[in-house]
Amino acid sequence: MDNKPNIVYLNGQYMPVEKATVSVMDRGFLFGDSVYEVIPVFGKNLLRIDGHLLRLQNSLNRISLPNPHDDDEWQAIFTDLLEKNNGEDCAIYLQISRGAYAKRDLSVKTPAGRPTVFAMVFQVTPPDIDVLSAGISAITVDDFRWNACDIKTTSLLANVMLRQQASDANVEDAILVKNGIVTEGTASNVFIVKNSVLVTPPMGRLLLPGITRDLVIEIANNNAILIEERELKEAELYAADEIWMTSSTREIAPVIRLNGKAVGSGKAGPMWKRVMDLYQQYKQQLRNGDVK
Ligand code: PDD
Repeated sequence: MDNKPNIVYLNGQYMPVEKATVSVMDRGFLFGDSVYEVIPVFGKNLLRIDGHLLRLQNSLNRISLPNPHDDDEWQAIFTDLLEKNNGEDCAIYLQISRGAYAKRDLSVKTPAGRPTVFAMVFQVTPPDIDVLSAGISAITVDDFRWNACDIKTTSLLANVMLRQQASDANVEDAILVKNGIVTEGTASNVFIVKNSVLVTPPMGRLLLPGITRDLVIEIANNNAILIEERELKEAELYAADEIWMTSSTREIAPVIRLNGKAVGSGKAGPMWKRVMDLYQQYKQQLRNGDVK
């Protein structure tokens, strides 16, 4: 963090980031055998901590790796990290790998090591509302990833390659499409608005259950905005009034151009303004400690 101490947590200890090292035999390094979370912090309050810890538990269950900490221990680590880094309006990154084994062997049985637990605080500049409302451009790309995208794994090579396709096309991001069906973004979930109804693909193995996605659905439900969680066809993207990409760091980003063509009016739409306004209110309440 700029001009701030960068104290990280590694396997039970706090230390400056330069001192934090991991074995080259770590399975996270060798195989990407690890999972992670990114948790936004508003003021000093963590956004949807329960949801993030539940998703972490699901990722760990999916790879049969016992959770090294219970929720209270995680909470204590986050509180300590924020304190040591004077962390406010930032995000927490945490990663658990299966640890270093004696041999490079795909098998997880022999001889089991200890998981590597790493956490750090990083600065996020909350997207400025004017910048956000200018919107982003995206392309659609073939989602060639595997059938386990619900695991929040650090094995992100496919996502890196897909984001590279977006960079090569001089746009901010890519919307992933598998066999004509929209899945998600390279690091975000996707919503469309059509005739004032919000539509987002359902949870399952094809996408990450985003916490921001959850929050947007909750905001919609609490404010009588119609929302459908259902299969979203690629063709619906091209006929959409609005398209959004949601994530912890990006919040709710309106896509104003897709494959070089204007989405809807070509500007952030009225539904985006409404939901973004409600999202901002929620953030402010969280900052004040009025909501969880
Ligand atoms: N990524 N889908 C993918 C593939 C993601 O990587 C992310 C988030 C999301 C949105 O999830 P959430 O709303 O909980 O942030 C969806 C984080 C921000 C990252 O990798 O940095």
